Amino acid sequence: MIEKLDYNLRGVTHIDGKVIFVDNALPGEEVRINIIKEEKNYSIAEVTEYINKSPKRIKSKCPYFDKCGGCTIRNLSYNDGLNYKKENVIEIIKRNAGLDINPNLIKNDQKDLYRNKVEFKCVNGKYGFYVRNSHNLIEIDRCLNAEEPINKMIMHLEDLNLENGKITIKCNNNEEILLNIETDDMCKINIDHLRERVKLVGIVYNGNIIYGNDYFMENIDNKLYKESYNSFFQVNRYINNKLFSILKETVDEGSIVMDLCCGVGTLGLSIADKCKKVYGIEIVENAIKDAKFNAKINNVNNVEFLLGDAFSLMETIKDIDTIIIDPPRNGISKKGIKNILKKEVDKIIYISCNPITLARDLNILKEKYDIEKSYILDMFSYTHHIESLVVLERK
Ligand SMILES: C[S@@+](CC[C@H](N)C(=O)[O-])C[C@H]1O[C@@H](n2cnc3c(N)ncnc32)[C@H](O)[C@@H]1O
Repeated sequence: MIEKLDYNLRGVTHIDGKVIFVDNALPGEEVRINIIKEEKNYSIAEVTEYINKSPKRIKSKCPYFDKCGGCTIRNLSYNDGLNYKKENVIEIIKRNAGLDINPNLIKNDQKDLYRNKVEFKCVNGKYGFYVRNSHNLIEIDRCLNAEEPINKMIMHLEDLNLENGKITIKCNNNEEILLNIETDDMCKINIDHLRERVKLVGIVYNGNIIYGNDYFMENIDNKLYKESYNSFFQVNRYINNKLFSILKETVDEGSIVMDLCCGVGTLGLSIADKCKKVYGIEIVENAIKDAKFNAKINNVNNVEFLLGDAFSLMETIKDIDTIIIDPPRNGISKKGIKNILKKEVDKIIYISCNPITLARDLNILKEKYDIEKSYILDMFSYTHHIESLVVLERK
């Protein structure tokens, strides 16, 4: 019997006291399983037979769901899946930080066909994703999470003429396609053929531009953002827009803001109109170049972007009253937390794609800060991933 879903949205059961994580199994279901991976403290299993199915179980709209490692909960309705994700975040913050939150749930208006970036594998001339829990390929001709221009590109992957490699496909609001290919193969791409089929703006092949540009422009909330092939950019333009709205509501008029881990500058630039000054710090050189360019083309003059480790470099900036921090999955470094506390700012807006490190960091920040508001944004629909935003105010 499946007891509950874990943080990765796999079914949880116990056999002889050992925890078993079962793919594609829902709470209350009785299933027969086959153990596919055995570790000291836990095992991973797949279902071989459903004896009793959950009334919440639905038939996945995606034909690849049973095998593909991309989605985790296309076996539930959108709302049921999202509620499980919300409950998980609440529980993780309670368990690891001892804090009760009642987050506002921001749904994805574009539940399918929302991702602007997809990473494809090529193995022995075939293109697709990895099967769940494996490095075996499942051939895919359409991904229900990816935006339509990416799906159009997927139909023409054979034009790449690869044997083996990794292909990152990005698209923007203008339906343009930017390809980044990493492979040991000689380049035999049929570029002319591909150009006739998709709005191709650039191909980067093992770090070299072989066609067009290594960037494109994205338009969100009436601002233009340059996005290089290897800069971080939020994968869901609809939720990114909502993130901007929350920031605009939350940041006080006339604030002096530090945007830590700023990527190509989107968050800081989205609120610059309201602020006296915004400083952005980012460790990836290309991203900071893009951020400076983005300030210029949007005529934003009160921002300054700095290249370096945000958690140390922040020490050099004085008189801040608000910190926006959007770190990678491993959260804020110990030094970063120490430096943030030293700043004694009035407000911290912490955006996180990993509730476990968010909870770990909140457990320290709570000594000097209270949670004023919290949000859960469904940036990565139908996967176990979730974006959270917490507004902290100094006690
Ligand atoms: C989750 S992304 C957020 C980017 C940006 N805020 C946005 O919304 O597009 C995290 C960013 O942190 C950057 N990063 C990672 N470690 C960093 C560090 N120590 N100092 C500064 N930036 C860092 C990454 O390169 C990436 O751009």
